[in-house]
Amino acid sequence: MDDRARNLSKTASLLLFFFCYCFIPQPQSCIKAETFGYGYRILSVAVKSSSLTADLALIKKSAVYGPDIQTLRLSARVLSLREIFGKESTVPLKSRTVVMGGAQLLDNSLSHENSPGLCGPSSYLTSPPSLCEDITSSGANEIFNSKRSRCIVALFCIASFYETKDRLRVRISDSKKQRWEIPRDIISRQLSYPNPTHSDSDLLFNLHNTTPFAFSVSRRSSGDVLFDTTSTLMVFKDQYIQLSSSLPKQRSHLYGLGEHTKKSFKLIPNQTLTLWNADLASANLDVNLYGSHPFYIDVRSPAGTTHGVLLLNSNAMDVVYDGDRITYKLIGGIVDLYFFAGTSPDAVVQQYTELIGRPAPMPYWSFGFHQCRYGYKNVSDVEGVVAGYAKANIPLEVMWTDIDYMDGFKDFTFDPINFPVDKMKKLVDLLHQNGQKYVLILDPGIGVNKSYGTFIRGMQADIFIKRDGVPYLGQVWPGPVYFPDFVNPATAIFWENEIKLFRDILPVDGLWLDMNELSNFITSNPTPFSILDDPPYKINNAGIKRPINNNTVPATALHFRNITEYNAHNLYGLLEAKATHAALINVTGKRPFILSRSTFVSSGKYTAHWTGDNAATWDDLAYTIPSILSFGLFGIPMVGADICGFSGNTNEELCRRWIQLGAFYPFARDHSSIGTARQELYIWDSVAASARKVLGLRYRLLPYFYTLMYEAHSIGTPIARPLFFSFPQDTKTYEISTQFLIGKGVMVSPVLKPGAVSVDAYFPKGNWFDLFNYSNSVSANPGKQIRLDAPADHINVHVREGHILALQGEAMTTKEARKTAFKLLVVMSSRGENSSGEVFLDDGEAVEMGERGGKWSLVKFYGGIVDDKAMVRSQVVNGDFALSEKWIIDKVTFIGLEKDKRLRRCKLSTSKGRKLVGKEIMNSNAQFHTIEISKLSLLIGEEFKLEVELKK
Ligand SMILES: *[C@@H]1O[C@H](CO)[C@@H](O)[C@H](O)[C@H]1NC(C)=O
Ligand SMILES: *[C@@H]1O[C@H](CO)[C@@H](O)[C@H](O)[C@H]1NC(C)=O
Ligand SMILES: *[C@@H]1O[C@H](CO)[C@@H](O)[C@H](O)[C@H]1NC(C)=O
Ligand SMILES: *[C@@H]1O[C@H](CO)[C@@H](O)[C@H](O)[C@H]1NC(C)=O
Ligand SMILES: *[C@@H]1O[C@H](CO)[C@@H](O)[C@H](O)[C@H]1NC(C)=O
Repeated sequence: MDDRARNLSKTASLLLFFFCYCFIPQPQSCIKAETFGYGYRILSVAVKSSSLTADLALIKKSAVYGPDIQTLRLSARVLSLREIFGKESTVPLKSRTVVMGGAQLLDNSLSHENSPGLCGPSSYLTSPPSLCEDITSSGANEIFNSKRSRCIVALFCIASFYETKDRLRVRISDSKKQRWEIPRDIISRQLSYPNPTHSDSDLLFNLHNTTPFAFSVSRRSSGDVLFDTTSTLMVFKDQYIQLSSSLPKQRSHLYGLGEHTKKSFKLIPNQTLTLWNADLASANLDVNLYGSHPFYIDVRSPAGTTHGVLLLNSNAMDVVYDGDRITYKLIGGIVDLYFFAGTSPDAVVQQYTELIGRPAPMPYWSFGFHQCRYGYKNVSDVEGVVAGYAKANIPLEVMWTDIDYMDGFKDFTFDPINFPVDKMKKLVDLLHQNGQKYVLILDPGIGVNKSYGTFIRGMQADIFIKRDGVPYLGQVWPGPVYFPDFVNPATAIFWENEIKLFRDILPVDGLWLDMNELSNFITSNPTPFSILDDPPYKINNAGIKRPINNNTVPATALHFRNITEYNAHNLYGLLEAKATHAALINVTGKRPFILSRSTFVSSGKYTAHWTGDNAATWDDLAYTIPSILSFGLFGIPMVGADICGFSGNTNEELCRRWIQLGAFYPFARDHSSIGTARQELYIWDSVAASARKVLGLRYRLLPYFYTLMYEAHSIGTPIARPLFFSFPQDTKTYEISTQFLIGKGVMVSPVLKPGAVSVDAYFPKGNWFDLFNYSNSVSANPGKQIRLDAPADHINVHVREGHILALQGEAMTTKEARKTAFKLLVVMSSRGENSSGEVFLDDGEAVEMGERGGKWSLVKFYGGIVDDKAMVRSQVVNGDFALSEKWIIDKVTFIGLEKDKRLRRCKLSTSKGRKLVGKEIMNSNAQFHTIEISKLSLLIGEEFKLEVELKK
């Protein structure tokens, strides 16, 4: 930012716009671009309060990728209380600028031809133009241009809502014609309500009156330019929109823009990230997969100041990342950019999920271990697996069945020979008696079969996607199928009824939505001359510019209200999950569990996700970490990968290392493909032994995982997080793709290579303690790379100083584990800082999580050491629920105490006195010292304070 701009930002209260009349030379990279576009110039600008509207006109036509849109309207909005209730922004007067009523006419050489009227009431004043969405009012400012003695009316729309102080929205669309954009009833874009403490936004929008025009977004606090379209030009055609931002190559670190399988969590320059939902196996690197998330975060070194950018657009796109530039190439819709100010990485995800919706709460049981396989032969096969787990003493929470259970692969039916309904009922009863659960798969395609009830009811309700006036005929597992159109509200009712009829027969506990990209085994011929079926710009579909229609529903197929598949394609999985979520709530009255393969922006409000069809290879094992971390950024924190690998035969060592890692995925499911070697965890003794060990720790950590779910649902932060979420200032963490954090302070450092018995792991600053053996610790100051032992049965999982974990006991089901006593692990900080942690408690299946007046408790723990006293105390919110469940804490373990500190005496204060037993655990090799206070039977719902006097 130049000095002039700095001065301006002081005077303009919120929006900063300055007009550069300088000519910016086109960089090399733009020369080629000139063939398909010449950009736009500014016709007029209107400023009202803190929203800005600019009308833009095409500079010069170009025929490549179709005709250009002649006039565009740009609006930028960043509003806060002061602007809404206070005075209007004032813009400094400049010689060639007339300011009146908040709008301004620019350079008088600009034509006003595209403005709707000349001095005098305009029809728009009474009937707002339909292209102004979200408006409660619109208006026009008349501006008198004294030099030319004429008037220009600048239209503007005023939002009925405002973006938060942390969010800026920039929208660019055709000023004459409504274009496709994602309807608000599909993605609601949560509004934020006035918060009196809001101060001005850190985000500044800068409009550059250059030729071609450009805009940039910068930080008020630092002047850092976050998004910058200067030096490029925007192309805006009906089926090709290009927008590009330069990035400071050395300082900018990008994450997100999925769904892709990638070697590295951090985006590597020189790649095209294609977004077009497709049934392509996740075993394929760098191609567009099942979901689309046009969202990235940009972590700027060295301070780790982070912002996020969402391009809310459901059309197919290529995003080209070159390290010093990011270029969007969209084939439809509008430019609808949202910027999230951060400044920490987790603040960005909080701000993002505030807009798109917070993640759905997941039931407590869904954090248990899941077993699935495509290719279970019959009910006895499945029963054998359940028994196999019990016999091997490995916790199995949820049994799954893939399409094998269906009759001819038709949804809501049972194979009468291998999965007859009476045996299935018995199986589900047995599972429920054991405290276990059952989840079944559903595919969207409904078999075309005149004797099939679901098909008949679907035809009666007229809810299928159509093409040429009749339901579009695809081909999936059942053979010929029609696809329910979830854009149509009637489809949700049809779907709910089918689920209800099905659950009346078999009370399954959750639903698994597969093939919803949509996947189609055939490719229908394009409609001749259709620009939708064969758009001029070919996205890099499947990495080979495969036609967009290939193996999915053709782009010319129509949804409800004639919405084209071209526009709505990427929304299918989202809409199916949304309808299934609503249906399960209605049918069961409980918190739903849904696992969807296809996702889009906001899918996390309804569903969990797994990373799809990976392969049983060591590389695939490693790729699961970037995939899982990416979905945390996308607001879908409940995510996992198929443990031991889906396709191809796994082997003992790979499966052992995979369960060691998979036990710490938020969603932990073993799944394999038909025809591959069986890979249930009890198949090999060494895998079974390791599974008992690592799932044992997972089950002890269940209260922690679940509390992270609560946090995710409340504020959006991911469960599995990259290291830089906790250590944004440690630039070494930016490159890490082989380790991750669970919450803030538990770090997982898995073995990802065959034959390895050690692992090179990075430890950010602090003391870290092995959760399998507290005597093993790593002290890093500053952060350091260290080689850790990782024998065959072991994974390194460390907790950092400063954290308090509320653990429970191991058990074969989450229900049993939830009944065990709590054990507090208080990890002392060596820097005299306080330690903290919390635990959220509810019944694990209420539809809402933590709702006002609901049955839940939240217990916060604070600990610390002062002189010769170690202390932990609790603060209880809504203790009644925890008290009614009679949960107790029976042990408090302080770890990380300096070695010369010895236990002298302990003192407990609660409403009732208790007798304490303290035990020191000394290990002469250990760097630190541990004190255990046991036999406590402290009610967790009751506040307490425990002090331990230490002596030298
Ligand atoms: C990206 O491509 C440019 C131009 O081809 C090249 O100079 C640069 O080294 C490449 N960067 C990477 C990381 O491959
Ligand atoms: C289930 O399938 C297995 C493997 O094909 C077979 O051996 C067994 O007889 C079947 N059991 C029943 C009850 O059909
Ligand atoms: C769920 O039930 C409510 C109230 O009866 C109803 O309005 C809604 O449409 C139902 N949801 C679905 C998906 O049918
Ligand atoms: C799908 O795309 C591939 C790659 O372009 C092509 O080889 C194949 O023939 C296409 N399939 C159909 C059915 O069009
Ligand atoms: C959808 O298109 C058909 C054919 O052009 C037309 O008859 C119908 O009115 C349209 N429906 C809607 C809701 O726009």
